Amino acid sequence: MHRPARRHTSAGGPRARPLIARRVPGHRPPARSRHPVIDVRDVAKTYKIGQIEVPALQGVSLRVESGDFVAIMGSSGSGKSTLMNILGCLDVPSSGRYLIDGTDISQLDEDDLSDLRSRKIGFVFQSFNLVPRTSAIANVELPLAYAGLSRTERRRRALRALRALGMADRLAHQPSELSGGQQQRVAVARAIVTNPSLLLADEPTGNLDSRSTEEVLSIFARLNLEGRTVVLITHEPGVATQAKRVVRLSDGKIESDERRCGVHDPPPALGRQQSAHGRRSALPEAGSER
Ligand SMILES: Nc1ncnc2c1ncn2[C@@H]1O[C@H](COP(=O)(O)OP(=O)(O)OP(=O)(O)O)[C@@H](O)[C@H]1O
Ligand SMILES: [Mg+2]
Repeated sequence: MHRPARRHTSAGGPRARPLIARRVPGHRPPARSRHPVIDVRDVAKTYKIGQIEVPALQGVSLRVESGDFVAIMGSSGSGKSTLMNILGCLDVPSSGRYLIDGTDISQLDEDDLSDLRSRKIGFVFQSFNLVPRTSAIANVELPLAYAGLSRTERRRRALRALRALGMADRLAHQPSELSGGQQQRVAVARAIVTNPSLLLADEPTGNLDSRSTEEVLSIFARLNLEGRTVVLITHEPGVATQAKRVVRLSDGKIESDERRCGVHDPPPALGRQQSAHGRRSALPEAGSER
């Protein structure tokens, strides 16, 4: 469906921030909004299967400030993915409200919602969800299709994102020709190519070995260090220790909410590296050659 290019997305607009923001050592980016990026208010979600009602979320309230790095944990069936789908505007609550940067998403029509989704949110899935029989670079270009960019510009941005994830030598590879860790890095490149401020990931390391898990986590940490808000679901306690805050769900309710370090502190893994070696720059500068 063709949509007129109303407001240009951040990916296409002349004022777009660079994909990988330049970090000035010691500089902390100012909070961009006085609203929390995520504001979930007493949200319930009930699935109906015939006569049976499944209460997946029962009165969840959660505020996440810009720049935070939150891990969501909980046993299977506790409602994590249901919550994540609501956070990513892929699903709507049965009751309660959800505001992104102060905007109540129930007030938005379909077009505004997909506009907001493509401007602000990057989504990473456990099963990568790459388009089969399609090259890595074409997969990463896909989210730019609606941004009204020229083909050359789409390619340039996709290339930059893949380079930043160390995938410059796999551009023409199709998903079936890549390892799990490489596929997830392509999926992360696809999630960040539009330069979203909010990155949501549902068990992004669930299908990865320990080395690829570490690589993907360090990418999330670096993106967070650059000011992006990260919310990820995980079953693995080792993954959750990389987050600044850990929220546990149980039977569709928040059971605990533990802050491990400040919203504007460096994420734990990078904080350790930095204190050991002095401040490091984040991902390679946009457009830089490896
Ligand atoms: N589309 C659906 N239709 C009906 N019930 C659903 C649907 N999706 C999820 N549920 C139910 O809602 C509850 C929460 O599911 P959800 O997928 O959010 O759990 P989860 O915490 O992500 O679990 P897991 O760790 O196994 O991924 C479960 O009881 C599940 O069976
Ligand atoms: Mg799930």
